[in-house]
Amino acid sequence: MDICEIILDQHHQQRRLFAVLEEYPRDDVEGLDAIWRQLESLLELHAEAEELYYYPELVKLGTGAADAESTDEEVQDALKDHNELRDAIASVRKAKAGSDEWFTAVVNANTKNSDHMAEEERQDLADFRQQASLELRHEIAVRFLKHVAQHQGERVSGKNKDPKGYLADKQQEGTTETERAAAEKRSQETAERVSSDPEPSVKATESAS
Ligand SMILES: [Fe+2]
Ligand SMILES: [Fe+2]
Repeated sequence: MDICEIILDQHHQQRRLFAVLEEYPRDDVEGLDAIWRQLESLLELHAEAEELYYYPELVKLGTGAADAESTDEEVQDALKDHNELRDAIASVRKAKAGSDEWFTAVVNANTKNSDHMAEEERQDLADFRQQASLELRHEIAVRFLKHVAQHQGERVSGKNKDPKGYLADKQQEGTTETERAAAEKRSQETAERVSSDPEPSVKATESAS
C-alpha cells in the first residue's frame, strides 16, 4: 500500500462524483441530494485524514517540490485550500438541493477542489514520493484507510484550521509516531538480543583476564 496512491485514488473518486452530478437527471432532487451527500462525506473525510496522517509526515520530510517555494508553503497552502473547500461545502449544504443556487455552489466546490487536488498532486505528493520511504508510505496508508473506514458515513466536524498554527504544531512534534514505533521496536529487539546472548560479557571477561 502507498499513501500517495490512496490519495490519488480518492481524488479520482471525487472527480467522478462531481462529473456524475453534472450529468445526473436534474429533476431527481432526491438522487442529486444523495449523491452530493456521498461526495461531501468523501471530501471532508479525505481532507481530515490527510491532516491527521499525511501532512504531519510531509512537514517533517518534505523539501518542496515542483513549483512550491518550500514545504512550509506547500503545507500551509493545502490547509488553506481545505478550509476554503469546507466553506464551499457548507454553502452547498445551505442551498436547496437541485436549485440554481445549489448547482452554483456545487460548481464552486468543484472548482476549489480541482485546483487543490492539482496542486496537491503536483507539489505535495511529488515531494512525499521523493522523500519518504516505501515503508513509511505503507504505514501512513494503513492509518489513513483505517480512519476513513471507521468514520465512513459519519458527519465530519468540518472545522477549519489555522494553517500557521497547524504547521507550527507539527514542526514542534518531536519524533513521528512512526519513528517512535520504530525506535521502540529497535530497543526491544536489542534488549531481547542482549538477554538471549551472554557471549559478549563472557568474551569481555576472557579478554580482560
Ligand atoms: Fe487530497
Ligand atoms: Fe488535500
